[in-house]
Amino acid sequence: MKRRPDGLGPIIVLDRRLAKPMHRQLYDGYREAILDGRLRPGQRLPSTRTLAEDLQISRIPVVTAFDQLVAEGYVESRVGAGSFVSRALRDHARFGGEPKPSTGVVRRAGLRRVPGDKRPAMATPWLDGSGPFRVSQPALEQFPTEVWARLVARRARSLPRRQMTYGDAMGFAPLREALAEYLGTVRSVKCTAEQIMIVSGSQQALALCGRTLLAPGDAMWLEEPGYPGARDALTLAGARPFPVPVDDDGLDVATGIARCPTARAAYVTPSHQYPLGMIMSAARRLKLLDWARRRGAWIVEDDYDSEYRYDAQPIASLYGLDTDRRVLYTGTFSKVLFPALRVGYLVIPVDLVARFRQIRDAMDIFPAPLYQAVLHDFLRGGHFARHLRRMRSIYAKRRQVLVTAIEREFGDDVRVAGDRAGIHLVVLLPPDARDHDIAVRAARRGISVIPLSSCYAGPRGRPGLVLGYGPTRATEIPDAVRRLKSVLRG
Ligand SMILES: Cc1ncc(COP(=O)(O)O)c(C=O)c1O
Repeated sequence: MKRRPDGLGPIIVLDRRLAKPMHRQLYDGYREAILDGRLRPGQRLPSTRTLAEDLQISRIPVVTAFDQLVAEGYVESRVGAGSFVSRALRDHARFGGEPKPSTGVVRRAGLRRVPGDKRPAMATPWLDGSGPFRVSQPALEQFPTEVWARLVARRARSLPRRQMTYGDAMGFAPLREALAEYLGTVRSVKCTAEQIMIVSGSQQALALCGRTLLAPGDAMWLEEPGYPGARDALTLAGARPFPVPVDDDGLDVATGIARCPTARAAYVTPSHQYPLGMIMSAARRLKLLDWARRRGAWIVEDDYDSEYRYDAQPIASLYGLDTDRRVLYTGTFSKVLFPALRVGYLVIPVDLVARFRQIRDAMDIFPAPLYQAVLHDFLRGGHFARHLRRMRSIYAKRRQVLVTAIEREFGDDVRVAGDRAGIHLVVLLPPDARDHDIAVRAARRGISVIPLSSCYAGPRGRPGLVLGYGPTRATEIPDAVRRLKSVLRG
């Protein structure tokens, strides 16, 4: 006979010294687990044979206990399928809610301190929806899922043993080889595969940089306005963020030197400043590198979306100008492929690799290899280059339709900035506009725009709206802009 699949049972402690018979202890244990929600209606139970084996008792008390549970309607037995917690219990309110927390009763709670920031987390309703203009979201409907699925299936079918055991903290070597080639050619990031660490998105790269390069409390320049995710990751890693304003040339290095000369590091997005979108000028890049050299400081370059540029050749990386091994360069596949992939990379100066490897090993040991191997095949098979070329023209069209629609609907009331690269732009609003309220109202109408003021660490942020055009089809954009206009008017 075909064996029925088994479910898992709750922890039941049987005590052979008790006068209460075994089947009764078992019955009580299961009944209690059903009543307190540890076992949910419809949940599969272990077979009587497995349970008897697990508990190291004979099968008879187990069968007796289960018969009783079935007779009383707690458990149902389906021929050929096994035993389940009775689905009829779903209709009873007491079984409908969440499982109750452990019954290990807390009588008097002592101090339960969590060190850190006491500010309540800011509500961000604009990140909840997936409506038009959701920032940081690529055009998922354009992703070549069939090719990807084929590559995943191939790798999953022939999973070698060495990929099932512990691996290298730096990541899957063939992917790092492919990336070293790609970065050297396309981003002027000349590096070897040994310098590349595969990370779980650039967010992890930032956290690692904070932990490795800074002592707790060390000051770090962050762009103002800037990427809140970087602020969070670096602060969590112990950095003391110091906001330095950006202007049309990018980070204002002179102001950073004047106001916080002792900073040990700087975080920048020179290819496409987040969120304002300017490109850091060559003079500023050299000034930043010069400051870092003189101060013995580090620079973390976040190159998160510069694969997409619309009016000129891609700008070379800051890393490519560095002659003193001061720049750590991070990039991600979140925008070019999809964010749930959670694959990014960090290029580490060669003499720091051992230290980064050690710290990564202590954090999460190493990145899971399956998707890295698939990504390697995607790059080497030419699918990535093809996808990128296709997406460049799709995003260029979306961007152009968006800019035209904004100009048509808003005229001179607003100014568009940062649309020369990436997959988002900024609509700068008049100084008295309340961008936060507008973004909350827009979110209620299904439009996801980020208030520019939320990207400022300081209190007086310039009002504006950050609009992503990655996920919004060109045909939907004009109507979405009209709806946004009516939100603004409201
Ligand atoms: C400027 C910037 N850096 C880093 C990230 C994080 O990307 P990842 O998904 O690779 O962690 C984002 C995501 O939106 C971003 O906008």
